[in-house]
Amino acid sequence: MKKKVRLKKEVKYGFIGIVVLIIAIVFLVQFISYRTSTKYKLKDLGYTTEEVTTIIEKLDHEQVKDILKMEYNQNIVLFLQEKYFIYDNLERYLDYQKENQDKSTSDVVTMVNVNRDRDFYTDTKETDLSLGDLILVNKYYSLPDDYEPENIVKMNLQYAYDDNSIRDYVYDAFLEMYRAAMEEGYQLITNSSYRDYDWQDTLYNNYKTSRGQEYADAFAARPGYSEHQTGLALDITCYNCTNGTFDDFAESEEYQWLLKNSYKYGFILRYPEGKEDITGYNFEAWHFRYVGKDMAKKIYNSGLTFDEYYAYYIEK
Ligand code: DAL
Ligand code: ZN
Repeated sequence: MKKKVRLKKEVKYGFIGIVVLIIAIVFLVQFISYRTSTKYKLKDLGYTTEEVTTIIEKLDHEQVKDILKMEYNQNIVLFLQEKYFIYDNLERYLDYQKENQDKSTSDVVTMVNVNRDRDFYTDTKETDLSLGDLILVNKYYSLPDDYEPENIVKMNLQYAYDDNSIRDYVYDAFLEMYRAAMEEGYQLITNSSYRDYDWQDTLYNNYKTSRGQEYADAFAARPGYSEHQTGLALDITCYNCTNGTFDDFAESEEYQWLLKNSYKYGFILRYPEGKEDITGYNFEAWHFRYVGKDMAKKIYNSGLTFDEYYAYYIEK
């Protein structure tokens, strides 16, 4: 009888012992997996629980691994929360911010996305021609010197001043826009259109000789870097109107009409007012770039310049 009770007790304690052991093992495994987890490592670096959640939410596994190799930096989390954050630009954001402490996180992201942390015309690359109507041509992306678009046609004197030509389908889009404007009482006219490399070279150098390089660079692209060489850009003004000259076209009703309606015909204003730091050019009320109707609508609705839109939605 006594033996039976002792046996029962031993079984009971043995069972309790096993349960305790299992619980201990489970805790140990959990502890080890927590200590080796990304969350723990990020916290160990100094990130708060909230910051850790943001990092894990916004980045993929490999990118988080990179963050773990860097020192704690609260700015990383701020950049991650920016709408137009591009992971590949992270180190450049951090460097640019160090040099420009007065700039907001959002401005830093914008400027770096459009390469403004680099000097104009240095470290340039040839633009991706396979993008067709969406090619980016600016002070960082060039065209091959001998680049000549296909299907360039002369513009009729009813729609353009002398010696203007453009891609045939851009001409069609312009004519559609011209007629729509006309119906509302606004007569448009093209002032400048397709310019080949040599033409742009002459134009840029005329500016440079007469007004100096800084002025020339604010107004005109260097040869090989002009949208006019793509056959996709038109300088538009109003015909027979008091605001017809470039300088005061921005004051005209025709400009206001183009600003509101040009996207419906596939055009975007390429160098908007207030975006000079981003585009690298003075405000040009007259310079419209053809990108196609769908894309023009998207860009118009985004409120971004083409340079910004390209960096985030096209190149990325
Ligand atoms: N005026 C524009 C920027 C050009 O020269 O292409
Ligand atoms: Zn232009």
